[in-house]
Amino acid sequence: MMRPDDGEQMMLPLFPDADTERLPEREELCPGAVLLRGFALTREAGILDALHVITAEAPFRHMITPGGFCMSVAMTNCGSYGWVSDLTGYRYDAIDPESGKPWPSMPAVFLKLAHEAAASAGFENYVPDACLVNRYEPGARLSLHQDRNERDFSSPIVSVSLGIPAAFLWSGLRRKDRPVRIPLMHGDVMVWGGPARLRYHGVLPVKESSHSFAGRHRINLTFRRAASSRQG
Ligand code: SIN
Ligand code: FE2
Repeated sequence: MMRPDDGEQMMLPLFPDADTERLPEREELCPGAVLLRGFALTREAGILDALHVITAEAPFRHMITPGGFCMSVAMTNCGSYGWVSDLTGYRYDAIDPESGKPWPSMPAVFLKLAHEAAASAGFENYVPDACLVNRYEPGARLSLHQDRNERDFSSPIVSVSLGIPAAFLWSGLRRKDRPVRIPLMHGDVMVWGGPARLRYHGVLPVKESSHSFAGRHRINLTFRRAASSRQG
């Protein structure tokens, strides 16, 4: 029941100065791509606990590219499938090649975060089956690429930034398109799907910095739907 004076209450910001300095909470970068500033902030304790469980079972490792280079970003995975790279190519695999065992399961806190971020960006019913966990130390970078090893391009990518900041490169559908730089901070979530699903993206070399979440590291969780969404 509404009390008679409910409609008259005004919502005044408690900290007007802090409020005006904040970046917009939701920014549509282009059709299909939405940046949700600070979306993961309230869940950081649960995410950190889950990361400890995942990395105890499947420690971070530097994978080798098909061209024979060692990646500067350290990676691990959780979920039904993990993204792996070696001299034979890139692929999704249900087995961690280091342990010979399935990847750690996707924690509930990860599933919920990805589902809710996707819904906020306009993608309903998102159930990722793969989460690539990237760890950047200062100097680590990820060159421009498309996420195209998945079977299902109808589902979006949900990418969560944690720890020290990074400059994200956001480009077009062609390799030669000119990227824009987007600063990504602790708690920011990017969602890209639909017409933006195959846009090129990357990360500039991460600058030396420190954050209470993971010290000198930037952690990125990238959720995908690797298998076909048609249940069979
Ligand atoms: C990725 O493209 O897999 C990671 C992007 C990021 O670290 O922000
Ligand atoms: Fe990517």
